[in-house]
Amino acid sequence: MTKTFIHGGTVVSPTGSQLLDVLVDGETIVAVLQPGATALGADLAASADVAINATGKYVIPGGVDGHTHMQLPFGGTEASDTFETGTRAAAWGGTTTIVDFAVQKPGERVQDTLGLWHEKAAGNCAIDYGFHQIIGEVNDESLKGMSELVAEGVTSFKLFMAYPGVFYSDDGQILRAMQSAGDLGALLMMHAENGIAIDVLVEQALARGETSPYYHGVSRPWQMEEEATHRAIMLAQLTNAPLYVVHVSAKQAMEQIAAARGNGQNVFGETCPQYLYLSLEEHLGAPGFEGAKWVCSTPLRSKVEGHQDELWRYIRTGDVTSVSTDHCPFCMKDQKELGLGDFSKIPNGIGGVEHRMDLMFQGVKNGLISLERWVEVCCTTPARMFGMYPRKGVISPGADADIVIYDPTGHTSIGFGKTHHMNMDHSAWEGFEIDGHVDKVLSRGRVIIDDGSYLGSAGHGRFITRELSQNLI
Ligand code: URP
Ligand code: ZN
Ligand code: ZN
Repeated sequence: MTKTFIHGGTVVSPTGSQLLDVLVDGETIVAVLQPGATALGADLAASADVAINATGKYVIPGGVDGHTHMQLPFGGTEASDTFETGTRAAAWGGTTTIVDFAVQKPGERVQDTLGLWHEKAAGNCAIDYGFHQIIGEVNDESLKGMSELVAEGVTSFKLFMAYPGVFYSDDGQILRAMQSAGDLGALLMMHAENGIAIDVLVEQALARGETSPYYHGVSRPWQMEEEATHRAIMLAQLTNAPLYVVHVSAKQAMEQIAAARGNGQNVFGETCPQYLYLSLEEHLGAPGFEGAKWVCSTPLRSKVEGHQDELWRYIRTGDVTSVSTDHCPFCMKDQKELGLGDFSKIPNGIGGVEHRMDLMFQGVKNGLISLERWVEVCCTTPARMFGMYPRKGVISPGADADIVIYDPTGHTSIGFGKTHHMNMDHSAWEGFEIDGHVDKVLSRGRVIIDDGSYLGSAGHGRFITRELSQNLI
């Protein structure tokens, strides 16, 4: 087994940053040591097979992206990253674990659909992965399926208050699923937008000839997100279900979440980099059909209404508990183009699994969050939230050796054209200049990114059987 010694770097955790050396034996971190403090440390260093000099760099736990959609069948097409291309791109960006969504649609058995997602991922992933389960039809059978899945390490379930006729659940169905989640102690993840009312607004916009991507955002106003978030919180309170509200973009929805958390309820908020940087006016409102690149739901919000600043503030207060990507990539050609002349037919989703660690590090550079909070929201809390801690999300003896060597003085250009590794013909982040760079990535002890080279392989990544959330109040 390979022994790797990482020395000279600053190890960052949610509780602090310290000059520490890290010894890896095979797939596992075996020691975290004060540099040169002990003879044991010197012996260990001397006996290592590989030495990594991390002087001047941060040594952080591999990123945990708790919200991705590889190969998701959606919007009349399928998300363009396979488990192979998407997990490889994730690795390039310093993410070493994803939790993707298996999808049950009406008429399907939950257990069968999970099996299908296992087939899609097995043998193809560059990094470790787990699954959440989307429940597209709440009934006796699927509720029974939930308890079987928990026993198999799939401990979180997503429901949709949006997308009537696709994934939508009505309030009665949500209540039943939450009762089951409450009984099981499983996390209920909610796409909180009032889909029934939104569909009316969409129909009215199209009837007025408002067909460009900008109107995707206009027809999904923040009131629809706030209302649904409030309703989900009330139903969760009644049923004692732990609630994780995904991809929050409206400051008013966060206000609801913060209030529930203030009341001691197990309610958590997730946001994504797109809601922190991109806007209705500049991006969805780009000339012509360009805005299609940024059609996702919940939608990008108005910059002048101040959602972005408030989301950063909620990251600082802890009410945004984790930052995921909601990686759901579609190419412009043949995919986003399905909505030329009708924004409601544009497949909803933005790709970004490769850029989350860098984009969130800009928050550190810009003085919006601390270095420690960066690691907390991108690595440690997602690991705890989704029942993978302390195996993931921490640099500590016994943990998987998922480690990123991050250079705070490096630079990453997300240029125009193909400067990324996701299977997309564009990037939602074109033109972003990043202060910072992912130098090396270890996945379970194996160096898979090494100063600009990919050394990983499909099939290295393993399925993670997850515990119940370890983040409950
Ligand atoms: O637009 C989005 N978010 N697409 C992915 C599906 C979802 O709702 O998370
Ligand atoms: Zn969603
Ligand atoms: Zn999603």
